[in-house]
Amino acid sequence: MIRKTFSLTCALTLGVLPMAICHAQQGHGSPAVLTIHADQPVSKVSPMLYGLMTEEINYSYDGGLYAEIVRNRAFRPNRSNFPNWILVENGAALAKISADTNTGPSEALPHSLRLDVTSADASSQAGVLNEGYWGMPLHPNTTYKGSFYAKEDTSAVGPVNVSLVANQSGKVVASTTVSGITGDWKQYTFELKTGTIEPTAANHLVLTVAYPGTLWLNLVSLFPPTYHDRINGNRIDLMEKLAAMHPAFLRFPGGNYLEGDHIPERYEWKKTIGPLVDRPTHPSPWRYHSSDGLGLLEFLEWCEDLKMQPVLAVYAGYSMAQEHVNPGSDLDPYVQDALDELEYVTGGADTKWGAVRAKNGHPEPFHLNYVEVGNEDFFDRSGSYDGRYEQFYKAIKAKYPSLQIIATTPVKSMRPDVVDDHYYRRATEFFHDTTHYDKTDRNGPKIFVGEWATREGSPTPNFGAALGDAAWMTGMERNSDIIVMAAYAPLLVNVNPGGMQWETDLIGYDAIRSYGSPSYYAQVMFAKYLGDETPASSVEGGGPKLFYSVTKDTKNKRLYVKLVNASSDPQSVDVTFPGANLASTGKLVTLSARNTQATNTIDQPANIVPVESTLRNVSGTLHHTMPAYSIQVLSIDQR
Ligand code: AHR
Repeated sequence: MIRKTFSLTCALTLGVLPMAICHAQQGHGSPAVLTIHADQPVSKVSPMLYGLMTEEINYSYDGGLYAEIVRNRAFRPNRSNFPNWILVENGAALAKISADTNTGPSEALPHSLRLDVTSADASSQAGVLNEGYWGMPLHPNTTYKGSFYAKEDTSAVGPVNVSLVANQSGKVVASTTVSGITGDWKQYTFELKTGTIEPTAANHLVLTVAYPGTLWLNLVSLFPPTYHDRINGNRIDLMEKLAAMHPAFLRFPGGNYLEGDHIPERYEWKKTIGPLVDRPTHPSPWRYHSSDGLGLLEFLEWCEDLKMQPVLAVYAGYSMAQEHVNPGSDLDPYVQDALDELEYVTGGADTKWGAVRAKNGHPEPFHLNYVEVGNEDFFDRSGSYDGRYEQFYKAIKAKYPSLQIIATTPVKSMRPDVVDDHYYRRATEFFHDTTHYDKTDRNGPKIFVGEWATREGSPTPNFGAALGDAAWMTGMERNSDIIVMAAYAPLLVNVNPGGMQWETDLIGYDAIRSYGSPSYYAQVMFAKYLGDETPASSVEGGGPKLFYSVTKDTKNKRLYVKLVNASSDPQSVDVTFPGANLASTGKLVTLSARNTQATNTIDQPANIVPVESTLRNVSGTLHHTMPAYSIQVLSIDQR
């Protein structure tokens, strides 16, 4: 019966199934009996269990989610040149570029690129080119919206010719002319439209002039179409991948990115809002500079777009080079800054900071339930976190009594609402610890597993990591009466050479393509079939690498059985539902691979993807065989 059921499933879907599903006809591990009491609820499942955690790491925003395609658009110089910008001298043109620290378009950007052209004409133009973030992604028949700030000297060096050029052929793919440049800083906008081209990232942007003279430039920007057509918005393919994860929340802005290496390098939210020209940019602790184009309001709009709750982390007076601010009056300005931030997020347009948000384009306040005070403060060797947390807690609760305030490590002086636990592990460590929260005090603080991942595979997790992740998720689901939220980290990685600072990241991409790792698909499966209640269940037998969780969608009377077979052998599981009246067929979703090292890559994005099939003969005892190395969701309706 066991084999018959599985063979039928296999035959029905043959042709699209990975081989691993079809070769698993025999259960070699000790057979398991899983008993599910569908109508005996044990605990609630947190509706916010699965969400996203992000920060500026691995070119997650710049060169990633944030759709800007001009790199170093604000012309940050290094010692001798401007990274990602190259001088262009076509034909007989003669010119030089330099960093001018005496003039810029704003207080935030008080410097600029100075282009001195000594010789140029229409057929010998001079200017600069930008190489993008490992290229510039261009699609056919697409409009790209651009802008720059510029001024010229008295010699009428303009107009500025702007073009997108294919790297290999040198062919101009799209071009336009921006005229009317004056002696004062001003923003100019333009559009570039491609025709019938092959989609490719092997392109660059060129800005040239045809007359001698001097031109100053800053904030050169170019955007492709964005998700929900947002101005200054996000990459469509990545947003769609995130949406498929059914995320309930977004934890931002970090991570170490919140703290910075040094206190002046912390995430200062006030410097990330308003027009881009008023954002000074800042160094991230992940060894590159952040444009802050994806600033506080953009984080909130990202939440809005994907219907996620913001989980806002506020800087709490600790930066990673063991720098801290003493609790008490020294910390007061930082607490006030957090209160201002909360008002910016949640205040009406009649409040001071709510009015600033309205001016920035979003009059409606955002709804906020959770605030996190700092990040990983267990690293602060000064022992100041107890005092810092308490000071933030009291000030925030006084103004926002319903906000849940997350501590980044247990504090002794008081009981936090929620504590954030982080786990970066090997798969075997997760296998051995899936019962971690089974005995946690239900009267203590709630738990936020704010960062966790199986770190096996680079740049993205392999199937062995996905098995570790899925096993760990079964434990989190079973305990989601106390685990209110959980988020894999890091979420994103640019897979180009030099793009990654932290290995094993959920979603990989280059300038034009993206893919989900096996762990990504495991997340999609667990979040899509979440349920809202945990019914009573027990398992007997089964190998040590069999893990499961059972939840129920009470509204639709639907059971979700998640099974993880981390063994190299198939696993037989007899599932019984005493007293339950079940539909005779259900849905089976399978993620499976031949071995732990199998994975997806930017060139082979679909080696391992979930496969749906029909579960038959469900009523009574379901005789089921899991393939070796597999993660499965069984979705079964109660009648
Ligand atoms: O996720 C990468 C880093 O790991 C985060 O920035 C930090 O919070 C943790 O140590």
